[in-house]
Amino acid sequence: MMDQRHNLLFYDAYESFYAMAAHSAAFRSYCSQAFGEDFSQDGFSDVQQIDLILQTASLSSASHILDIGCGNGKMLSYLQRKTGARISGFDYSVHAIQTARALHPFNADFRVGIIGEIQYPVECFDLITSMDTLYFAKDMTNFVSQVKSWLKPNGILFAGYQEGDVTARTESVQTTELTKALHSNQMPFRTMDITRQTYELLQRKRQAALHHQTAFEAEGHREWFDLLIDQTQCALAPYDQFQQKMARYIYIAQKQ
Ligand SMILES: C[S@@+](CC[C@H](N)C(=O)[O-])C[C@H]1O[C@@H](n2cnc3c(N)ncnc32)[C@H](O)[C@@H]1O
Repeated sequence: MMDQRHNLLFYDAYESFYAMAAHSAAFRSYCSQAFGEDFSQDGFSDVQQIDLILQTASLSSASHILDIGCGNGKMLSYLQRKTGARISGFDYSVHAIQTARALHPFNADFRVGIIGEIQYPVECFDLITSMDTLYFAKDMTNFVSQVKSWLKPNGILFAGYQEGDVTARTESVQTTELTKALHSNQMPFRTMDITRQTYELLQRKRQAALHHQTAFEAEGHREWFDLLIDQTQCALAPYDQFQQKMARYIYIAQKQ
């Protein structure tokens, strides 16, 4: 199992990332400044996108939420604080899940698991979230079929989906792998194009990283500062050039 995981895309990088996130005050402060809340984001999910989940799904203490690629569970914890819902999440990073279990011991279930391999019972979740994780599935159509089976009738899949880094930019939202996978699985959905907001978020990430440079260096975390600067280089280009290379969409799909 361990050897297999080390062959998965970015596995070692995410283990180091979540080990750093577990104890870096500079990173917590950077996340709060860049994203509006600290969810230990590696991706592009700011608090506006997560609040949209709350506006989209009617959640209560009777609801059950699953997050795919949940990292250390801080985004789920925010949803639980707002709704009282039971939270479940899985991630292939052992460090991330250790932190998630320590931070959220009640009304929560965190598992080490691989997208496409982990199993849950059918029809047990009201909401499944996937922020920048669906493209790690080896077969997205099969994985969406599995996700659909885990949802209760009328349950919602809420996904943040980026093109231009892990997965290639396609022509439009009509042509993404996720659009094809949802059509193949007869899951009706609506989308929002948030490419412009993502461009602005990347600029905020860069500003926040620069603001925290000394703090990262004082902790011995200069390499994470360098990575953030590298990752946000693309937002220095004019928007027209940026959006030819990158796109970001929110998908809200419903099981019928
Ligand atoms: C881009 S990050 C997004 C994390 C978080 N959802 C967020 O929005 O900040 C991708 C996440 O998926 C996890 N991941 C990547 N590939 C995976 C796989 N094959 N199986 C399970 N988790 C995976 C990583 O450890 C990481 O937590």
